[in-house]
Amino acid sequence: MLYAFELSGEHDSLPVMEAYACMEIAGLDFKEHEIFDQCLVVSINGTREEVEPRLLYVAERLAMSHHIIRVAGMCNTSANTILEIAESIDYSKHIAPEQTFVVRAKKIKHYCDFEREFIEGHVGGKIFRKGFRANLKTPDVQFRLILGEKCIFGPVVASVDRSAYENRLPHKKPFFYPGVLMPRVARALVNISKVKDSEVLFDPFCGTAGILVEGAIVGAKVIGIEVRSMIASGAQMNLQSFGGNYNVIVGDACTVPLKGESVDSIVTDPPYGRSAAIRAESLYHLYAGSFREMHRLLRKGKIAIVVSEIEITEFAKDAGFEIIDEYMQRVHRSLTRRITVLYKDK
Ligand SMILES: C[S@@+](CC[C@H](N)C(=O)[O-])C[C@H]1O[C@@H](n2cnc3c(N)ncnc32)[C@H](O)[C@@H]1O
Repeated sequence: MLYAFELSGEHDSLPVMEAYACMEIAGLDFKEHEIFDQCLVVSINGTREEVEPRLLYVAERLAMSHHIIRVAGMCNTSANTILEIAESIDYSKHIAPEQTFVVRAKKIKHYCDFEREFIEGHVGGKIFRKGFRANLKTPDVQFRLILGEKCIFGPVVASVDRSAYENRLPHKKPFFYPGVLMPRVARALVNISKVKDSEVLFDPFCGTAGILVEGAIVGAKVIGIEVRSMIASGAQMNLQSFGGNYNVIVGDACTVPLKGESVDSIVTDPPYGRSAAIRAESLYHLYAGSFREMHRLLRKGKIAIVVSEIEITEFAKDAGFEIIDEYMQRVHRSLTRRITVLYKDK
């Protein structure tokens, strides 16, 4: 069956990579069907009863998507074609007789030449004439039309609570210190690292624990190292306020007091050498030493993700990692982050 992820559009590839990683974590057997602007369509094997509870779990983990839709129809973004498709659908597969519905449309860029309200009303009218009751405020089923390069139409099976990320913005946490990744970016990276419930997520430059908080919320056991004790106690405060299984160590990322191959994933944001403080002989020593430690600590066949301002591929390769992906993320005019995904071979 086909399902569509309505992506947030905050990056070209991270939302897609995050959706793939979460489906893998959830044990779904899926294949890419098509990708359009802000919409990923996948074909997932299994019955609705097998697949959709897992998609609810996927939506709980996701940060860079809005909704997951069961695809009932897919066509050109032209009003006539959409109305024809909407007429031909067997709605009894998607809504029970006693349930109410609403139709909501989302325009992506400028692919359609009609108003959102126009198509919502006309498609809603078609469903109504097939005997179903509309309820604009508290519907049981939301049908969504994504009006992009193509039109995707179908009921929402799971939604991402994006407001939860707003509530965890750095300045809303008990302890704040500048230079933190935003929670949605941190969560997406935790997801792309493929850490599962009860596995160990490690951040050797944990700062205020922005990454670790997201890891703890998805059920990972999180461990952080921070060289400055004042910031390490702030990290403890932040982790305590969100709960979970955590351990923050005051120490140096180049000499970590943990056994080799004891962590299942690493997501980290080392100091860049400009504003952030470095506690090492030089940035070179800090990166060379900490990459060596990351490689020692990570289990084989697992992923480490490093966010940096500088090119880190040589440090990573020298430490023994394979580079599997690199994304650029523009933060503002003078700051572009590199997000490098590393793999420790089996
Ligand atoms: C860019 S910040 C990380 C921010 C973090 N992601 C957060 O959520 O707050 C880098 C952190 O690395 C710490 N640091 C600097 N040198 C270190 C070292 N040798 N070992 C461990 N941490 C270090 C800095 O004190 C700083 O808090």
